[in-house]
Amino acid sequence: MSEIPIPAELIARLRGARRVAVLTGAGVSAESGVPTFREAQTGLWARYNPEDLATPDAFRRDPKLVWEWYAWRRERVRQAEPNPGHRALVALEQHIAEFSLITQNVDGLHRRAGSHQLIELHGNLFRAKCSSEDRPVENWPDGDEIPPRCPRCGGLLRPDVVWFGEMLPANALHAAQHAAASAEIFFSIGTSALVYPAAELPMIALAAGATVVEINPQPTPLSARVTYSLNGPAGAVLPALIAQAWEAA
Ligand code: OAD
Repeated sequence: MSEIPIPAELIARLRGARRVAVLTGAGVSAESGVPTFREAQTGLWARYNPEDLATPDAFRRDPKLVWEWYAWRRERVRQAEPNPGHRALVALEQHIAEFSLITQNVDGLHRRAGSHQLIELHGNLFRAKCSSEDRPVENWPDGDEIPPRCPRCGGLLRPDVVWFGEMLPANALHAAQHAAASAEIFFSIGTSALVYPAAELPMIALAAGATVVEINPQPTPLSARVTYSLNGPAGAVLPALIAQAWEAA
């Protein structure tokens, strides 16, 4: 693969930075074989209708269908491994005094790679919650009944992810907004930057005077606004960035 040029000025700023925040989207997991949402042909929303699968109404109409679709996605992710992009973000965390990794991904691959300062904005495929009590349920019976029932109240369990029309977890959103507002450098990586409120985070960083960097092989609505746009896959650009900032002689 041809080298993606990384501006020397960005490398120097990164080396000197104390506060860095990163927003990731489905593109970061694409090189692990996890499908994105909006890409033509391969994106999940090109093949499935979110109205049937990812809304509270869809779950009320057909809880079995929704539970099984998420079970299928869980299985795909179980078979996937973190890629060099995930691992480069683990390395970045180790170099930066105040680091936040804000993800829209529900696949848990950042944590499996070894990231710690993680804010999951859209929940996690591997957790469930009770649809009646709205409380997280760590372990659920994998029996015949689909969806399984809440061990406490008997309500239907649902995946602990954010659906269209739902609020993001307030603590996670506030932590993400704070990280964006106080970052010296903010990265937007592998996201189409279309879904709010996540898409407002780079704007918060820009308004606060941060250097904003986008890493994406395709342009997005954010591209024209950022300080640096690095057009390439995260699994190639991120390791190159880390190598040039900290491993170069
Ligand atoms: P999208 O599918 O909207 O966008 C994925 C982005 O990743 C696109 O801009 C691609 O160009 C880019 N991309 C593809 N391969 C890449 C690679 N190897 N390296 C870097 N970038 C790459 O996914 P998201 O922006 O994550 O919400 O979507 C946001 C939210 O919409 C998701 O969290 C999900 C969805 O509906 C919920 O489920 C609540």
